[in-house]
Amino acid sequence: MLVFSTETSCDETSVCIMKEDKTILSHIVNSQTVHNKHGGVVPELASRAHLEILQQITKEALKESGIKLNDIKLFSATCGPGLIGGLLIGSTFTKSLSIGNSKPFIPINHLEAHILSSFFNNEIKFPHLCLLITGGHTQIYFLKNNNDITLIGETIDDAIGEAFDKVAKILGLSYPGGPEIEKKAIQGNENSFKLPKPLINDDSSNFSFSGLKTSVNLIAKKNIIDHNFIKDMSASFQKCVGDILTLKLNRLIAELYKNNNEGLSVSVVGGVANNDYLKKCFKNIEEEKNIKFIYPPKYMMNDNAAMIAWATILKHRNNHDLNFKPNPRLTVKE
Ligand code: KG4
Ligand code: ZN
Repeated sequence: MLVFSTETSCDETSVCIMKEDKTILSHIVNSQTVHNKHGGVVPELASRAHLEILQQITKEALKESGIKLNDIKLFSATCGPGLIGGLLIGSTFTKSLSIGNSKPFIPINHLEAHILSSFFNNEIKFPHLCLLITGGHTQIYFLKNNNDITLIGETIDDAIGEAFDKVAKILGLSYPGGPEIEKKAIQGNENSFKLPKPLINDDSSNFSFSGLKTSVNLIAKKNIIDHNFIKDMSASFQKCVGDILTLKLNRLIAELYKNNNEGLSVSVVGGVANNDYLKKCFKNIEEEKNIKFIYPPKYMMNDNAAMIAWATILKHRNNHDLNFKPNPRLTVKE
């Protein structure tokens, strides 16, 4: 069985053709560059770029995989959450292909696809914790199995990726800010600035990053933003984020797994999971708590259609719904 999937929820336009046995015949990810000078994604520009790119990369993917559209058995697209313009373009385009070829269309929840992405290359023993860290979300899920997923904590304001992007903007670095901050932080002193760690004494598994960004802004206003400041602030900010995640995860692991961790794991998914400094923080938890931290393949961390195709393969037996509505605020329970 061949699956054709699209991802257009934010600023990546992506298509993937995957076989049921997980072989990827083609996977194209076009990261839109039109937003770079704006320091964040401009929804209208994103929609226009999706319209231009989607059809073109669909043709390329078919050519690369050497198959015809009517060889595809299942079509799927991200249907939320995300920017409504991109969701409408991707879902309508892909649904049209499915109707034109008389094949089922499966709407895929972007967050669920991120969560399931680490199941692609890892054997999971349940229960399982998943930390989802992207530009739009910071969430922790508890999974009894891959169909029983409960949200147990999330950010009450900015997402982690968003905080990286906003701090990068304050420091004059380009968008997306996460990789830029990570690069600068390598040469900086992480103890240069003391930044707040909101909600760490709160019993919930919720996060807050907006105050952290404001604090960086206030310090930046009192300093000259030169090379040394950028390096030291990047390192201090990244350390602060690492400390917050470590504290929250340590507490949760003790509470949920009752220190009976044998064979259990925590997955970290989404664009921010690319960050090697944060991975080092998770490695420390791994050693201390005797629990494994797992990740999806690198090409499934940032937004991509391969994770949409994979989620489709996992879900297609239960769900053939043409009557969905794209939903910019879709949650995992809907
Ligand atoms: O998962 P993703 O591609 O899109 C969303 O669903 O939001 O995540 C994008 C986010 C951006 O905020 C970007 O700055 C961040 O992931 N990111 C990183 C790194 N690479 C990407 N943040 C920190 N360190 C990185 N190396
Ligand atoms: Zn995403």
